[in-house]
Amino acid sequence: MAKSAGTIGILTAGGDCPGLNAVIRGVAKAAMHYGWKVLGIQDGFRGLVENRVTPIENIDVSGILTQGGTFLGSSRDKPHKMLMGDTIMDMTEVAVANYEKLRLDCLVCLGGNGTQKNAYRLHKAGINVLTLPKTIDNDVAKTEITFGFDSAMAIATEAIDRLHTTATSHHRFIVCEIMGHDAGWLCLGSGIAGGADVILIPEIPYKLDAIAESLLNRRAHGKRFSILAVAEGVQPSAPHTSSKKAGKKAKKSSSETDLVKKARNDGLHLVQEPVANRIARELQTLTGVEARVTSLGHVQRGGSPTAFDRLLCTRLGTMAGQLLADRHFNTMVAVKGNRCEPIPLKEVAGKTRIVPTDHPWISTARLVETCLGDQPV
Ligand code: F6P
Repeated sequence: MAKSAGTIGILTAGGDCPGLNAVIRGVAKAAMHYGWKVLGIQDGFRGLVENRVTPIENIDVSGILTQGGTFLGSSRDKPHKMLMGDTIMDMTEVAVANYEKLRLDCLVCLGGNGTQKNAYRLHKAGINVLTLPKTIDNDVAKTEITFGFDSAMAIATEAIDRLHTTATSHHRFIVCEIMGHDAGWLCLGSGIAGGADVILIPEIPYKLDAIAESLLNRRAHGKRFSILAVAEGVQPSAPHTSSKKAGKKAKKSSSETDLVKKARNDGLHLVQEPVANRIARELQTLTGVEARVTSLGHVQRGGSPTAFDRLLCTRLGTMAGQLLADRHFNTMVAVKGNRCEPIPLKEVAGKTRIVPTDHPWISTARLVETCLGDQPV
């Protein structure tokens, strides 16, 4: 039974993903089991700054295990750099003051790399935090997997499966852009699972000539279609001519309105052209083969979590409840082998886990004749 109890606030921050509600449920149920009161903070760190908080009772977390998104709402706001009206302000002190006003004993933060950093900053400003590793990108340090990744990988894999049939019918190649920020986990995992013929990830700079040669080799061997899984963060090994031109054009572009410039300065992530468009256009020119592009975008973050994620989220959430019972704060609940365990937050904050180039998934891909963009197959 509980050694002691108090009040926790839970928030979800950063890009959403399937499994957030499942984790909220896991944390809340386990925390309540140990005698804690639970408050829900709306829209990430902004809700803490603006004091938008609601009590969470057992009934509120009933029936949400399978629901996508987060019923608390999310935002990418950072307490130390928050847009308040027209001005970016450091709202750390306000966040800490509200934490104290609410008489919280710990702030439980569900989020990716940005959230780990923000939670650590708040801890350094004087409050207790406990974090859980969320993101479809799977790039949080010190954990073998993040929740949301498996669900997104299942969606991207199904998309690649579906692209296969239409690419085959039309003898085309189709470039499918997959999220993942600066890490290739999602693209590599779904690319292997979906049998993509080319997989491009940020960790391996690509050479267009090598990819074009691989595509033409496949055709020469009677395979008249190809699927290319391309991570959104990919980079060419040396910028090719048209990319250089595109880069210069983008820099020179004076068509940006003041509003767009302001939004960029305020740290808003503005819509960008999918990188897959450029790669497809350039490969089409090099090979003379008709290409199409599919950018999966936020579809990858929608809908219900997979069975794997539901189980993972419930394990992570209930482990957080056990850590609360022990008042073991200022850690992130990480996955190691088949265990969930606390890792000091200072070892996680500010780090990114990208795909090591000697990772077994990379040799696996190469052994099934997948072009990884660095050499022709
Ligand atoms: O971090 C998750 C993620 O989906 C990345 O893969 C992607 O780059 C980014 O978020 C998109 O963010 P937003 O929802 O702000 O467009």
